[in-house]
Amino acid sequence: MKCIQARYSRRGPNPHEVIEAVEVELDAPGPGEVLVEVLASPINPSDLLTLSGVYGILPDLPATAGNEGVGRVAALGEGASSLRVDQTVLLPLGCGTWSSHLVARADELVALPDGADPRQLAMLTINPPTASLLLSEIVDLKAGDWVIQNAANSAVGTYLVALAAERGIHTVNVVRREGAVAAVKAAGADTVLIDSDDLAERVRGATGGQPVRLAIDAVGGAATERLAASLGDGGTIVNYGVMSGQPCQVSPTHLIFRGLTLTGFWLATWYARASMEQRASLYGDLTRRIARGELTVPVAETFDVADIKQAVAAAALGERNGKVLITPKHA
Ligand SMILES: NC(=O)c1ccc[n+]([C@@H]2O[C@H](COP(=O)([O-])OP(=O)(O)OC[C@H]3O[C@@H](n4cnc5c(N)ncnc54)[C@H](OP(=O)(O)O)[C@@H]3O)[C@@H](O)[C@H]2O)c1
Repeated sequence: MKCIQARYSRRGPNPHEVIEAVEVELDAPGPGEVLVEVLASPINPSDLLTLSGVYGILPDLPATAGNEGVGRVAALGEGASSLRVDQTVLLPLGCGTWSSHLVARADELVALPDGADPRQLAMLTINPPTASLLLSEIVDLKAGDWVIQNAANSAVGTYLVALAAERGIHTVNVVRREGAVAAVKAAGADTVLIDSDDLAERVRGATGGQPVRLAIDAVGGAATERLAASLGDGGTIVNYGVMSGQPCQVSPTHLIFRGLTLTGFWLATWYARASMEQRASLYGDLTRRIARGELTVPVAETFDVADIKQAVAAAALGERNGKVLITPKHA
């Protein structure tokens, strides 16, 4: 059958210029395989870095883009009896999810609860576990502790607000523009501040002088320094994103005289080291919460995979009000 895939055969600084929608002939599912209609797949910052050639793992070229997403089982190959037609399934990480259809091994697909919003489930694999692990793997946080994060209106930031609140952890949420404040408050945040040179002083006002133990940095550059200045002595900064494109800047004064620690986090490293039980526990819990609608992030725009250039260009723009998703049309 014919399907549309978002493919690229070179990398470059402008991701929408290298990606193309192409029609390809898909083989029928073989033994142990299923045909999947892709329902939804997000465009994440890491996808754009991959298309630009500056991400931590790069696939061989040519490649089909798209790392995560969900689909609907459309046909079963011989012996693929663990799934049923119409079952919603989580797609394997990195399988080229910006496609109208794909053929996958049944044993690599995870059955998802029926009736949940596929657009929210499509964002399950990367950002929710990142938010959860940033709160559990870096510092031993207890109820009543304070953390600060920037890019708080990002998808990771939005999940983190909800997950921290559930654990009784207070968050100071930093955004770079007034227009992002309402969305972070709607996600349940009490304290939202717009980034500025006097951030540390305003953070002290917001926490009533309580020390902030962990700073969660998705931006880098001078924004890292502003988080560092907002931390209590002995606090930790964890950098997990590079939205500014700049190296993290932290004054030696903070590292030497105030005992701050700067570290990094990458989900891929955690995933490679975690046991099957740890992965199943984390993903099982997050799947249930997302399926019940307890963990959600705003969706700014959806595009058919045939319009992949426009979709990637939209995702690369700043100041979005949520995620850009590929939601393929199936004729
Ligand atoms: N290390 C890991 O394992 C891991 C895992 C998942 C995600 N990440 C990283 O986490 C970050 C957030 O991902 P996401 O999917 O949640 O993002 P997202 O929903 O696409 O949101 C992007 C965020 O970055 C902000 N931003 C964009 N350009 C910026 C700039 N030049 N300076 C400062 N802020 C800027 C945006 O603010 P505006 O709305 O104001 O534009 C928005 O808050 C990304 O860097 C991503 O690569 C890392």
